[in-house]
Amino acid sequence: MNLIRAFIAIELPPESKQAIAIHSARLQKALGQVVRWVAPGNIHLTLKFLGDVSPAGLDALRRALAVEAQNHAPFTVEPGGLGAFPNLRHSRVIWIGIQSPPALNQLQRAIDAATTRLGYTSEEKGFSAHLTLGRVRDNLTPAEQHTLRQTLETTQIPSLGGIAVTDIHLIRSELQPGGSVYSHLFTARLGEIQP
Ligand code: 2AM
Repeated sequence: MNLIRAFIAIELPPESKQAIAIHSARLQKALGQVVRWVAPGNIHLTLKFLGDVSPAGLDALRRALAVEAQNHAPFTVEPGGLGAFPNLRHSRVIWIGIQSPPALNQLQRAIDAATTRLGYTSEEKGFSAHLTLGRVRDNLTPAEQHTLRQTLETTQIPSLGGIAVTDIHLIRSELQPGGSVYSHLFTARLGEIQP
């Protein structure tokens, strides 16, 4: 059976990706190889990571996504601010934060519930909206750890402005030597009216 590695996400418009690329390039200049950087064109807001999906699973996901999208109205999110998981002093994942109305959490919870009903596991740590810029490499030298911490604690990323969210996407992720390659499998438009 051909399994497809997939996730559900919100895409950013090109102008947001361009703004993120400028901030990412600034951090890359300071940190270089200490971090595996996400190509700015690939940066997205993940709502749910699904893992391996079967062809029959894809059909069920398409139907579930269409229903959940129709039940939620479009809303605006505002990326800005630099953060890290688990925190800025001990970072594994470096990200830009997201200010959003309750609508984002409501949509995410509905998608999580619908996909959990289809057998996909929920993220144990709960949902924390973010745009991943990069993942810190293992085995850093003390000097690299120091530079990383200092850079993260002193770099400011301002608000990137509001982004209208009108669609959610089911995206395929293929792990390639040069990094993940993403392709859209299905797009569902958010409904205009709250149920
Ligand atoms: P992210 O949202 O922090 O970047 C595709 O791999 C997307 O799904 C990535 O953007 C990634 O994290 C997210 N994701 C969440 N959990 C994951 C997991 N266990 N394995 C791979 N990706 C995961």
